[in-house]
Amino acid sequence: MKKKIVIANWKMNHDFYETTSFLRNLLKIFFEKKINNKKKVIIAPSFPFLHISNQILQGSSLSLAAQNICQMENGSYTGEVSASMLRSIGIHKVILGHSERRKYFSETNDILLKKIKIALKYGFHIIFCIGETALEREKNEQFLIVKKQLEETVFHCSSLEEISYFIIAYEPIWAIGTGKTATSEEAQTMHRYIRSLFIDKYGEKVSQKMSILYGGSINDLNARNLFSQEDIDGGLVGNSSLEIEKFLKIIQS
Ligand code: PGA
Repeated sequence: MKKKIVIANWKMNHDFYETTSFLRNLLKIFFEKKINNKKKVIIAPSFPFLHISNQILQGSSLSLAAQNICQMENGSYTGEVSASMLRSIGIHKVILGHSERRKYFSETNDILLKKIKIALKYGFHIIFCIGETALEREKNEQFLIVKKQLEETVFHCSSLEEISYFIIAYEPIWAIGTGKTATSEEAQTMHRYIRSLFIDKYGEKVSQKMSILYGGSINDLNARNLFSQEDIDGGLVGNSSLEIEKFLKIIQS
């Protein structure tokens, strides 16, 4: 069975107070409403708050992801955070390949491949983001682009065990933070295509189990429709994950 997963990508939002009070309130609501999500709700706060967040969520059904790791293992890389540092505070999920990392921090597929290798070495589950720009979609190149992104990164993994550590997030760049969402049909068509690429490369068993999430302007109104598609196994949510009420509605979708 594919897991249904909702991930809150908080990006560079929420300070210490906002992070801790959000998580405490969310836990309280989960308890009161008897929501048991079996570790399928994942929150990605900023680095400085991962440790305290982990303490708050200890023993709960929510888990955490980092928003990035360094492609180097350790050493003189001022300002970077390594996979082993994150493991040492109990973090074992990471978002890689987000289009904002690609755009603002020049993360190429080469760099992302290095990050993937380090992440796997330290036993991380990887939420790997792929997706095309508006111009690429206009030229009907979205399938080519997504295939290339996978071929130059994830598809370098040869073992089925490694592949089982991935969650894929299809995030059309034109839909991120813009209020424009892909239609359910557009998203489903792409998700089915992505799954077919995995089936061709790794076979049915591991690919049918893989969660493929949609991301890009998901909100409390469009989530249900998107999540009801056969190959859409949940969402990577930015803006709408910053407010507890909206995020809860998305979880319940
Ligand atoms: P958004 O961001 O929901 O604000 O569009 C999604 C993402 O970047 O993961």
